[in-house]
Amino acid sequence: MSLWGGRFSEPSDQDLRALNDSIGFDIRFYREDIEGSIVYALALADAEVIRSEEARAIVAGLREVLQEFETGDFELQEADEDVHTAVERRLIELIGDVGGKLHTGRSRNDQVATDFRLWSMRAADRLASELRDLQAAIVETSESQVETLMPGYTHLQPAQPITVAHWLMSFFWMLERDQDRLGSARQRMSICPLGSGALAGNPFCLDRQQIAADLGFDAPSQNSLDAVSDRDFVSDLLYAIALCASHLSRLAEDILLYSNPSFGFITLYDRYSTGSSLMPQKRNADPMELMRGKAGRLVGNLAGFLTTLKGLPSGYNKDLQEDKESLFDSCDTMHQLLPVMTAIVASLQVNPEEMIASLTEELLATDLADYLVRKGVPFRQAHHIVGEVVRLASEGRTELSALPLPSLQAISPVFGADVAEVFDFAQSVAKRRTYGGTAPDEVRKQIALAKTRLTS
Ligand code: ARG
Repeated sequence: MSLWGGRFSEPSDQDLRALNDSIGFDIRFYREDIEGSIVYALALADAEVIRSEEARAIVAGLREVLQEFETGDFELQEADEDVHTAVERRLIELIGDVGGKLHTGRSRNDQVATDFRLWSMRAADRLASELRDLQAAIVETSESQVETLMPGYTHLQPAQPITVAHWLMSFFWMLERDQDRLGSARQRMSICPLGSGALAGNPFCLDRQQIAADLGFDAPSQNSLDAVSDRDFVSDLLYAIALCASHLSRLAEDILLYSNPSFGFITLYDRYSTGSSLMPQKRNADPMELMRGKAGRLVGNLAGFLTTLKGLPSGYNKDLQEDKESLFDSCDTMHQLLPVMTAIVASLQVNPEEMIASLTEELLATDLADYLVRKGVPFRQAHHIVGEVVRLASEGRTELSALPLPSLQAISPVFGADVAEVFDFAQSVAKRRTYGGTAPDEVRKQIALAKTRLTS
């Protein structure tokens, strides 16, 4: 039995059914559907649309349906077009015609908007907690690497020395912004469409404040027409996920590079690496490539769904059914990615000697310019002078520190014997102690601040 057979003279075409039915995926929110129905039945009784015994029978029936789902005993039937149809069909089988009173004044339009918001709120909570675990792993690994030196890059060219903790903590803050985005998406989601009917509102004077509160929403939606077609909450979550995935992808790319034997900065445990079917020596970081690859798919889910929404006429349109598979896919993918990234960050093996070996004195060229600046040379001139010094060293295939003082002084008389002190990577890092810099003391403060975020 479908929910809308009355005005139809022939059964639906099979291919239409395959296209139209959403039971294959919306069954995932049977719990939210039943919770919404329980609250709705009580609201109908409060408004004296149905008798309280009827509401009691409906609630008891719905609890039984829920039980069947939970124990795996729920049997789908051919006519079950979507989860809403399936639940109501089974309710009526269990408690008889009184079950048919549940849908009074309600539409699947306000029903599905409510169910999916509830589901999405829970999904956002789970993602936030998985993200917290990754942030905690970043903080923990960073704590032991506050003094470990490594080359920092711009344009993927060696730039200036930084510390491993500073590198890793940069991802903490990206993920912290992702937390904010998830949190604010979660907050905007917490608006209850139930009681909006198909589009025009509910004619039975239901207490929508109560319905919203009973379902754990912050407030009822303000406009019934908007409420049934608003999927901003799906877009919000898809965006928060897409951006978070792109952060994971960037971290993955760094890990891929730094674990490459040409860098050798870090080593991944065998359990997070994969081999080659042909080349026996290979040890590939496939999980990191999947972080990178799947980020593309998650960005695609966002772009695809925004395109679906664009230009829809007012009110509910079946296009909106497309919200589910993309969000399910994005959430499921994140649930796969986040724990793997957390485990990899927590077990990162850092090779400090390899990092130090890759620190070339050119990374201190800025420090050399700063040395001149401290002696009163305008930075622009200092930059030019050091450029000449670097060229001299590079032409003579020698390190900067190996250039004799007279050669330096031939370029600028400001150079003195104390220039030797510049060629110290730890000093270079320690000097960057302005708020937010890579100096170990600053990074320690950064970590302390991060910890307060983890516990707040
Ligand atoms: N399966 C539908 C969806 O996900 C439920 C709402 C159907 N409403 C309708 N008027 N056909 O959007």
